[in-house]
Amino acid sequence: MTTETIHPVRGPLEGSVRLPGDKSISHRYGMLAAIAEGTSVIRNYSSGADCHSTLGCLRSLGVEITEDGRDVTVHGRGLRGLSECSGQLDAGNSGSTIRMLSGILAGHPFTTRIGGDDSLSKRPMQRIMGPLAQMGATLSAHDGKFPPLEIRGGSLRPLDYDMPMASAQVKSCVLLAGLYADGATTVHEPAKTRDHTEVALREFGVEIETGRGWARVNGPAKLEARNLSVPGDLSSAAFFLVAAALVPGSNVILQGVGLNPTRATLIDFLVSMGVQIKILDMGMNNGEPVGDLLVRGSTLKGGVIEKQTAAALIDEIPVLAILGVLSEDGLTVRDAAELRIKETDRIETMASNLRRMGIEIETRPDGFVLPGKQVFRAATLDSYGDHRIAMAFAVAALRANGPCTIENAGAASVSFPEFWQTLRGLAD
Ligand code: S3P
Repeated sequence: MTTETIHPVRGPLEGSVRLPGDKSISHRYGMLAAIAEGTSVIRNYSSGADCHSTLGCLRSLGVEITEDGRDVTVHGRGLRGLSECSGQLDAGNSGSTIRMLSGILAGHPFTTRIGGDDSLSKRPMQRIMGPLAQMGATLSAHDGKFPPLEIRGGSLRPLDYDMPMASAQVKSCVLLAGLYADGATTVHEPAKTRDHTEVALREFGVEIETGRGWARVNGPAKLEARNLSVPGDLSSAAFFLVAAALVPGSNVILQGVGLNPTRATLIDFLVSMGVQIKILDMGMNNGEPVGDLLVRGSTLKGGVIEKQTAAALIDEIPVLAILGVLSEDGLTVRDAAELRIKETDRIETMASNLRRMGIEIETRPDGFVLPGKQVFRAATLDSYGDHRIAMAFAVAALRANGPCTIENAGAASVSFPEFWQTLRGLAD
């Protein structure tokens, strides 16, 4: 178990940060490159353990992959070119790996077992098992719903799917399975979720139609290898956007961050809370908008996260809660029951750490109410093995009234192995 001690900041945060490659985009590029024809080079692939779980699974399915620092070369096997694996695939802590890869495995005529760590083994899989079974794959799971999953793939039927929850992983799983079906597979979503799969498929040469709340692929598809570059991860940037905002006088630049509109709700929300952010430079990388962000120490208002915004900010809510504590009017979150089925039950793991720091919070089944103008007391905190909880509370600790220790701090490496070093670099 790794423990980190974070001291309260003595002065403003200053400096320039380059973030690891976006986790969501890295997973997708890795998987699509594996089923493309030819060799793809992916630059700035995420250094996080989750995206390496994806590469590990792909290697076990016969894909040759080499790594040179952050550059990953994937020798594509073609749409139906994965080979049967005799053992169980290990998705580690990664919901994206197990849920999205299952869509691809459903199109292969063999049986695969895929599981992961204790946290992943408690996460619901019916959300992908239902649509994949409707398409013709045979799936079973522990207790009918938890990993490990056993997937027997084969020839798939196209599907018109009304997704009951707002989940980009489920949408992606069905669209990826749709690449193997004979005809058009459409997914309708109840709230807009990140569209990296749609953007990446287009980049790999697949025809994909999209409209308000739906996306459609035509199978069987053919993917062409590409050279790609992954933008910096906005969800990792969020920790520094918040850290700089809540330390007076700070001035931090985040370079080359992915600003896809389906993710950039974060910027709008932070601005609505009073955070001073400037987008300095905008460009396009393989269909994904990228820019540099400048953030300054700010006077913070309160905010409410609900409805469509809850889906768009789901990964950033833990660190936004830290901002809420120090804001004028606090933070209220509704319509975010999905928080309870992430790497941990994030409503409970956040509340437990906040209470250790003397913070008042009222939890609800789908969110919480956090009054503003509170003071963080020094405490011993726990990541509970959840990367985003580890990093959110490191940010809180910067403004505590004494040093805080964070147990299980190594969890951060699931998405951001360089986090602790980067944070210290800005604070020292
Ligand atoms: C992700 C989608 C979201 C998000 C996760 C990554 C993706 O999960 O929380 O961190 O890459 O598609 P859900 O699809 O479960 O909402």
